[in-house]
Amino acid sequence: MELKANSPQAWLDAVMADFNRFLQDHASCEKKASGMALSFISHYPDKPDLIKAMMDLALEELNHFKQVYAIMEKQGVALVADVKDPYINQLKDLIGQGREQYLIDRLLIAAIVERRGHERFGMIAKALPEGKLKDFYRVITRSEAKHYELFLELAHQYAETVDVKARLEELLEAEAEIIKQLPPQALLH
Ligand SMILES: [Fe+2]
Ligand SMILES: [Fe+2]
Repeated sequence: MELKANSPQAWLDAVMADFNRFLQDHASCEKKASGMALSFISHYPDKPDLIKAMMDLALEELNHFKQVYAIMEKQGVALVADVKDPYINQLKDLIGQGREQYLIDRLLIAAIVERRGHERFGMIAKALPEGKLKDFYRVITRSEAKHYELFLELAHQYAETVDVKARLEELLEAEAEIIKQLPPQALLH
């Protein structure tokens, strides 16, 4: 899956200029990703494959949260309250009605968010100097790639009437417009 717009250099510059603030937001995003995986389980008790995949994902994302938190603790950076995430909120507004459409849209949007995470963590990993932090972001980048593939597979598995490929294209176009309008900040989105 290819994104339709690359993240701008201005975003990477903002992150590298205030990495502590980025860590706080990164921690919060991992925590929310874990919660999002749990919410799939709450919503779809009738889908065993989805439940198993989301159980593993919730644990993995929570473990990422734990790892980011450990880095923050070492650097004396405190957790802060979650801030509004206009990127995620605008993507959520694209979720369609109807049981099947709703599920497929949620899965595809999750795939796109993971794909964007893969791109952005990759940019950060590349920009960081050699060391443990760079290695950590390399690992995170790889796991995001696995996650977007997982969500895509699930979308294909559960689609009955929705044309997944066409819907993915539409959502990728919309995501590109959203990302272009985000102000560059030391936040994941
Ligand atoms: Fe993660
Ligand atoms: Fe992820």
